[in-house]
Amino acid sequence: MAQRLVVRTCTKFEGSIRPPSDKSLTHRAYMFAAIAKRGTSIIRDPLNGEDCESTLNCLKTLGAHVERVSEREVRVSSIEKWADKPVQLDCGNSGTTMRLMCGILAGRPGIRATLTGDESLSRRPMGRITTPLAEMGANITGATPPIQLQGSSLKGIHYDSPISSAQVKSAVLLAGLTAEGSTSVAEPSLSRDHTERMLTSLGCHLYRQGTTVYLEGSKQWEPFEFTVPGDISSASFFIIAALLHRGSSVTFRHLGVNPSRTGILDVLSQMGIDFEISHEVEELGEPVAHLTINSPSTLNPFVVEGDLVPRLIDEIPVLAVLATQCNGKTIIRNAQELKVKETDRIEVVTKYLREMGAKIEPTDDGMVIHGPTPLHGAVVNSAGDHRIGMSFTIAGSIAEGQTIIENSEAINSSYPEFAEHFAHLTGVTLEVEV
Ligand code: S3P
Repeated sequence: MAQRLVVRTCTKFEGSIRPPSDKSLTHRAYMFAAIAKRGTSIIRDPLNGEDCESTLNCLKTLGAHVERVSEREVRVSSIEKWADKPVQLDCGNSGTTMRLMCGILAGRPGIRATLTGDESLSRRPMGRITTPLAEMGANITGATPPIQLQGSSLKGIHYDSPISSAQVKSAVLLAGLTAEGSTSVAEPSLSRDHTERMLTSLGCHLYRQGTTVYLEGSKQWEPFEFTVPGDISSASFFIIAALLHRGSSVTFRHLGVNPSRTGILDVLSQMGIDFEISHEVEELGEPVAHLTINSPSTLNPFVVEGDLVPRLIDEIPVLAVLATQCNGKTIIRNAQELKVKETDRIEVVTKYLREMGAKIEPTDDGMVIHGPTPLHGAVVNSAGDHRIGMSFTIAGSIAEGQTIIENSEAINSSYPEFAEHFAHLTGVTLEVEV
C-alpha cells in the first residue's frame, strides 16, 4: 500500500545501531544453502526485506524447504528434487534475485522457468547475463524480463565482461558450478566479491588474478551456518547523516567491511574525515567490524571515479546529498550504471536535489555538484526505489521546512527498520501517512 513519510529538519544523529543485514549476502546465503549437498543450512540475522523474500519464494517454488524459526533465524534445506513442471519465479523488485537465479538454473536439465519482476525490474537490462549464459550453452531468452529459461548442459567459458557488475560475474560463476570445465570472468574494475569469498569459504576452488576470477570445475558443499553482517549500503544513509549534522556521533555494530564494498570510507578519507573501526571478526570470509562516525568541522568536496565506482555504486544517491553541503565542486563520473538501477538514479537524484535548491548538473555518466547550498523541503517520489526514498529522507533532515517522501514503502525492500533507526538516532519520529 502506498505510504508517505513526512520529514522535518533534525539537529543531530547520535547513538548506536546494528544496521540491517546485508542484502547481497542474504540473497547468496539463501541460494547457496539451496544448492548445497543434502541437509539444512542455518542463516542467522538474515535481511527480512522484500527483495530477499523474493529469493526465498523462488527457492521454495523450485523445491527448497524453508523454515523461519524466528525473525533472526531462517533454515533452508538443499533442494533434493527440483521442480519438474514449468515454474514461474516472481523476482519482485530484485535484480540480484533474477540475475543470480538464472546462473543457478541455466545448467540444470529439466528446469523450465519463466522469471518475472515488478514494473521497475521489467525495464532492467538482462542481456548482460543472457549473453554470457547463452555462450555457455544455456537456453535462455529475454533482453528484459520476463526471462524464459530451460536448463541444459553447460560448458565453462572465459567471459570478458564489458561492465563491472557483481550480478553478471556471479551469474556466470554460479552457472560455472554446473558446467563442464573451468569458468573465468574478467571485469574492468573489481565489483563486490561476496560470491567469490563465500564460495571459497565453502570449499570451492576459486582464485583471482587482477580483476579476473577463475573457478575450477564444479563443486558442491556441505550445509553451513552463517550470521549475516550489517549492510554498509544501508548504513551509508546514517553515515552521511552523521557527517551532515554538527555534533553527531553514530556507531554501526557488526557492519560488513568487505573492501569491495567500503568505497564510502575511501570518500571519507579523501575528504580528510577520520572514522574508527574496531571489534574486527570474520564470517564465511567476510570481514565484519564496528564503525564509528563523528561529524567533522568542515566538509570538503570529493571525486568519485574509476575503480571506486563499483565499490560504492549504491551509495551514490546519498553521496550526492552530502555533496550539496561540501565547500566546492564534487564530481561523480564513470557511473553510467546508475541509469539501470531501480530507477535512473542520475535523472531522479538531479531532479529532486534541484527542486530542493541544490546546484547539480547531470552528465552522461554521473553528476557535478557545487556546494554548499541550503536545501529546502520538497515533495519527492521514490518511484519504487528504496535508496531514493532513504537518500531524500536524509536530505529532508537538513532542509528547511517539510519534505514529503511519496511511495516510501519502497524502503522496506532493504531497510524495514529505517524509520525506527531514524527515530532512535534523532529523537524525531518520521510521520507515516497511508
Ligand atoms: C549487487 C550488485 C550490485 C548492486 C546491487 C546488488 C549484488 O549490482 O548495485 O544492489 O548483490 O550482486 P551490479 O553488480 O550489477 O552493479
